[in-house]
Amino acid sequence: MNSLSDTFVLNSGKGIPCIGFGTWQTPDGETAVNSVKYAIQSGYRHIDTAAIYGNEKSVGQGIRESGTDRSELFITTKLWNSDRGYEPALKAFDTSLKKLGLDYIDLYLIHWPENKANSAKVNSDTWRALEKLYRDGAVKSIGVSNFLEHHLRSLLDSAETVPAVNQIEFHPGQMQHETVSFCKSNGILVEAWSPLGTGKMLNNPELAEIALKYGKSVAQLCIRWVLQNEVLPLPKSITPCRIEENTNVFDFEISCADMQTINSMPYFGGSGLNPDTVTY
Ligand code: A2P
Repeated sequence: MNSLSDTFVLNSGKGIPCIGFGTWQTPDGETAVNSVKYAIQSGYRHIDTAAIYGNEKSVGQGIRESGTDRSELFITTKLWNSDRGYEPALKAFDTSLKKLGLDYIDLYLIHWPENKANSAKVNSDTWRALEKLYRDGAVKSIGVSNFLEHHLRSLLDSAETVPAVNQIEFHPGQMQHETVSFCKSNGILVEAWSPLGTGKMLNNPELAEIALKYGKSVAQLCIRWVLQNEVLPLPKSITPCRIEENTNVFDFEISCADMQTINSMPYFGGSGLNPDTVTY
């Protein structure tokens, strides 16, 4: 990867720009509009939002105000947990599309797997709705988020379409090896939410020392490290200089030895959210 518009290729055949602009915890309104607009004007071609973030309307406005042609952009949104099931999922998709003001979505994800009673059926009914949207062309690729290996195995039992993406928490100290290796061996691209550990990576002295060697910030080191693990990073920022800083990751390469050092860091800075036990 040499630039923000370089792509990974999904199992749907579509290209997905290699760094996505994250919008989790980006307040709705002016902040979301301006940060999305600024990100696109800084070269990001991939924006990641979700119904539960509450900012789809403003994200859509930022996209339009950026002046960049829709066909050059890759937009992801996600189905919230209260909308699981076939019919509710179709309705929720429609609502997201309208809020964003778009006529198609590039990637639509199930945000979290159902983890309570009847979970396999609920997840597969929801997936059938995404498959219909995919067949109809309303969404160009479909995927999941926060699915562990057993959720994926169970989904694949009845799925017609293999998810194109699994978006999971992934940063130094939280690599989810088992999930990542299952995804890679099944042609599912892994996306990293919170590649900076929602900021918790940034004061780590070990990462700071490695970043210094390359003349880079810890944020840039983490984003590059995600890419070198063949995972797609989704850094979030509402601050113009950081939005730009996080794009400057193509002019250095982390050595094998440093990759190994970072890859073997023990667990730290994780959200603690476990898809098997979250209560929402
Ligand atoms: P802000 O949005 O206020 O600029 P993650 O992507 O892991 O969820 O991390 C997002 C957090 O990291 C946000 O608090 C964001 O702050 C902060 N952040 C993003 N990029 C940088 C950067 N280059 N330097 C410092 N902090 C950053």
